[in-house]
Amino acid sequence: MSDILTIPRPDDWHLHLRDGAMLQAVLPETTRHFARAIIMPNLVPPVVTGAHAAAYRERILAAMPEGADFTPLMTLYLTEDTDPEDVAAAAASGLVTAVKLYPAGATTNSASGVRDFDKVRPVLEKMAEIGLPLCVHGEVTDPEIDIFDREAVFIERVLDPVRQATPGLKVIMEHVTTKDAVDYVTGVDAGLGATITAHHLVINRNHILVGGIHPHYYCLPVAKRELHRKALVAAAVSGDARFFMGTDSAPHLDGAKESACGCAGCFTATNAVAVVAEVFDSEGALDKLEGFLCRNGAAFYGLAVNSGSLTLTRAAPQVFPENVATADGPVTIFDPARPIHWTVSPDT
Ligand code: DOR
Ligand code: ZN
Repeated sequence: MSDILTIPRPDDWHLHLRDGAMLQAVLPETTRHFARAIIMPNLVPPVVTGAHAAAYRERILAAMPEGADFTPLMTLYLTEDTDPEDVAAAAASGLVTAVKLYPAGATTNSASGVRDFDKVRPVLEKMAEIGLPLCVHGEVTDPEIDIFDREAVFIERVLDPVRQATPGLKVIMEHVTTKDAVDYVTGVDAGLGATITAHHLVINRNHILVGGIHPHYYCLPVAKRELHRKALVAAAVSGDARFFMGTDSAPHLDGAKESACGCAGCFTATNAVAVVAEVFDSEGALDKLEGFLCRNGAAFYGLAVNSGSLTLTRAAPQVFPENVATADGPVTIFDPARPIHWTVSPDT
């Protein structure tokens, strides 16, 4: 393949933008490369109702950099009290694109998530009826289960039973980190997709723990051993349309990560496209890059591919800025731990 690639503007099917000063600082990092993103609802308090989502959408639009062409695709945070009719109304008006399921306590700001899956059955049935997808954070929270096994156990204890009990429900297993998840997704005929992050394509658990604790590589689901990373790379570059880009770019102030109890999240909005291009290039799979970044997710969600384009150029390894400044302090940009030869420029 050549050293220059032109692709449609991509989508990020899983993004944390936060609110206030953080939103203002990180939004341009996403709008520079992505045309749309699924916006995670785990604010404090969470985005639970259609009214909350409408207000949050307005705050995002107000924070947009000048001239940006970006559509935030809003989600609702599923709780045991979520009203199926509120979800249906928010979907019918075009306000929300998906509902997000966090098992209670699984990750950042997930305390209002679901404990008893029977309690959300009416919402899931309504979603199946109207064709609204469910985005799933796939980890059990059982303290007996080792943190490195929580995704695999979730598939068997929760994901498969929920899918069997709700035929027709479209599900996205988000930020998959294991071969178990890849195998589960590829073993299902229809109605199940998966997002893969840029960081899980390039780091394994050694990056977090060898030579000292590296808090900027800590996220949830936590990166697993190398055989799992290889399975993710194989799935991403395979061309299988069930796998698509979701950065899970999750900014936290450096002080909150470099701490005795550091927050989970890698901030990758700045370099996710370049990192993914590097991975596809090193696998000899640049011909599959456009599917992963621009087409597969849109097809799964039933949306058109974006207009406009990005040009990717292979050159000398580039150096990314160390951080993005916010009014409250810096947010470290993900270090891909390998040379990244691809630069990304929006076409005008
Ligand atoms: O690492 C993560 N950070 N994983 C999540 O699921 C949530 C996210 C966040 O909101 O910081
Ligand atoms: Zn996330």
